[in-house]
Amino acid sequence: MTRKGLFIPALCYALAVLEAASAQLVAADTLASQYSMTTSTSMPFPSATQSNSDTQSFIVSNWGLSRGRIQDGAPDLDFVNDPFPNDATPGASSNPKASGPVLQITYPNGSYSHDTGGAQLYSLWNTSDSSLLSMMVSYEIAFDSGFDWVQGGKLPGLRGGPNPDGCSGGSNVTDGSDCFSTRLMWRKQGEGEIYAYIPTSNGICKDSNIICNSDFGTSIGRGEFSFASGQWNRITLIVQLNNPVNVANGFVSLYYNDVHAISQQNLQLRSSDVVTAGGLYLSTFFGGNDPSWATPNTAHTYLRNFRLWGSSSPSNSTGSKVNAAARLTGLDSSLQSISLCLISVTVVLSTFGLL
Ligand SMILES: *[C@@H]1O[C@H](CO)[C@@H](O)[C@H](O)[C@H]1NC(C)=O
Ligand SMILES: *[C@@H]1O[C@H](CO)[C@@H](O)[C@H](O)[C@H]1NC(C)=O
Ligand SMILES: *[C@@H]1O[C@H](CO)[C@@H](O)[C@H](O)[C@H]1NC(C)=O
Ligand SMILES: *[C@@H]1O[C@H](CO)[C@@H](O)[C@H](O)[C@H]1NC(C)=O
Repeated sequence: MTRKGLFIPALCYALAVLEAASAQLVAADTLASQYSMTTSTSMPFPSATQSNSDTQSFIVSNWGLSRGRIQDGAPDLDFVNDPFPNDATPGASSNPKASGPVLQITYPNGSYSHDTGGAQLYSLWNTSDSSLLSMMVSYEIAFDSGFDWVQGGKLPGLRGGPNPDGCSGGSNVTDGSDCFSTRLMWRKQGEGEIYAYIPTSNGICKDSNIICNSDFGTSIGRGEFSFASGQWNRITLIVQLNNPVNVANGFVSLYYNDVHAISQQNLQLRSSDVVTAGGLYLSTFFGGNDPSWATPNTAHTYLRNFRLWGSSSPSNSTGSKVNAAARLTGLDSSLQSISLCLISVTVVLSTFGLL
């Protein structure tokens, strides 16, 4: 055979191997042991459906909420019957079978942003201990059949640090000194991503896997997977905080239906030791903070099987020291536009013989 004759089958074989590897199913339990997350917990669900007020009381009594309260959208939470009882969630067969009520989230027609529809709560793993530096959450989510994705919306993830109000809702650009958040988002046509409020240190915005939004969060791995409506989907999100705090060796990874979808290294998730991994950030709504994100009808998602794993060990990969100058990029660019402006004004003035 000619060398070319060998090359093409070899290439096809390599591609087939890669494809098989990428479709490998890895259950959350297996990931937890791979990442040495030895302790675990889960969010209790009731054994029967509940009225809205009973749903609120159940969550407040059993989910270890930050400041003991649901932050937003308590009227949009209800424990209801599984809307898709006949279809198993895709993924590894070793996952625990879900049974009983699921948590329905309502997004009223026209709603967008956290205070108009959907819900937001912060469930602390342990209200009296904050020593976890790595955390993993796994949960199942279903969207109504025919869900209209519009432009996108937030979905549950993890958060940490002593400030339970920062790092979301278009708050100030995050410097990592008192919080981080790593939620998920759906985007147009159900494309998925990790959506993080973290410092954008060491030029990560230039990474091809990352989209930096001018004022709010950072999108990681947009479109690496897509949510399916009308059925259950399984999400597993891993976060290992950077350590020491001035080295960008933090790591996030996401599995969709137990298949690896996103990994991102070289992140600075915190700039202070007071920021540790706190727990589940159940934050979900359409948006976005303007009406172009609004849902055109009353829509729902359904959540179940929240499980958390943790470790007191942070990321131990190598990473670069955070380049202090990188934080001045905003200033650099405004200096640049000031000089550009000065040059243009000079050119215009001298053209008209005024200088
Ligand atoms: C790094 O952390 C992983 C768990 O994420 C662990 O399995 C591994 O042994 C650690 N390596 C070193 C050199 O400590
Ligand atoms: C919370 O943390 C404290 C202090 O480390 C520990 O004693 C307690 O067992 C933990 N509680 C749970 C539910 O893990
Ligand atoms: C944003 O920063 C300002 C000035 O530092 C502060 O007063 C304000 O509380 C911050 N807002 C949020 C939501 O963190
Ligand atoms: C949603 O609200 C808009 C504006 O009020 C209205 O025109 C539309 O008919 C509503 N859609 C549904 C499905 O009720």
